[in-house]
Amino acid sequence: MLIFNRQEDLKKHLGSVTKENTTIGFVPTMGALHQGHLSLIEKSLTENQVTVVSIFVNPTQFNNPEDLEKYPRTLEKDTQKIETVSKDVIIFAPSVEDIYEGNTKAKAFDFDGLENQMEGKHRPGHFDGVGTIVKRLFEIVNPTNAYFGEKDFQQLQIVKKMVEKHQMPVNVIGCPIYRESNGLAMSSRNERLTSQQKEDSSLIYKTLKTAKEKFGTESAKEITDWVESVFEKNPEFRLEYFQIADEEQLLPIGKKDNAKKYRAFIAVFINSIRLIDNISLN
Ligand code: PAJ
Repeated sequence: MLIFNRQEDLKKHLGSVTKENTTIGFVPTMGALHQGHLSLIEKSLTENQVTVVSIFVNPTQFNNPEDLEKYPRTLEKDTQKIETVSKDVIIFAPSVEDIYEGNTKAKAFDFDGLENQMEGKHRPGHFDGVGTIVKRLFEIVNPTNAYFGEKDFQQLQIVKKMVEKHQMPVNVIGCPIYRESNGLAMSSRNERLTSQQKEDSSLIYKTLKTAKEKFGTESAKEITDWVESVFEKNPEFRLEYFQIADEEQLLPIGKKDNAKKYRAFIAVFINSIRLIDNISLN
């Protein structure tokens, strides 16, 4: 297993092991890896000659300093987990200094309004931070294919938009959401939940599945009111938002258009831990 901590060393290595038509698969992560991350790595391994996984807790995308501070950092465990999948993965685990060179500031991006919905609305500056780091990582790794989870569906659409607008030569590939056996979407933040909270948080996916059933017959307003009532009855949760939106523009649904694909998106706090999830509705 090769681990690089400096972008210059990674670039040099990639230069020496790749030829012009070598395919490079890239899986950017912030570590604390779980099966969801590993599924992305497995897909990359089957579709590319070289696979690079980055592990970097990106300070510019955290709008909440406590969340950044508490974010789990488990490089050794992560390396072992990747090794269970394959030893043939290149890990890039740089320092903040190596990536940002003393200027830990996000660049401003225009994602045609995608950044103003849901996560963007509730986490000011978050997607500028994501755009800044993903662009920088793409420039360092120069991947043929990059793998992103639908768990962060808005992020996936934003990265696709960035690649299109900046004409970057990379295919952005969306991958399905991996879940715990009780339905809770896997997330690095789940490590901060007690086992009771983990069990209780199955309510999130259960609610999304019922929302999907209701989508055939009920209006978005009726479904939203129902979701709000579910979380009001469960006061250990605080619902931040529930929104039904189209997949392309991520705008709140108006009149249902049969040509469009819709998803329900949710963000919920349990204690101070923020969990997000989404489900395809049609
Ligand atoms: P992180 O939260 O570590 O997630 C890394 C990748 O794994 C993302 O593409 C995310 O959508 C995917 N992922 C997370 N949980 C998943 C699950 N349960 N099933 C499937 N895929 C899942 O997302 C980030 O890091 C950062 O914003 C990053 C893109 C690395 C930029 O810093």
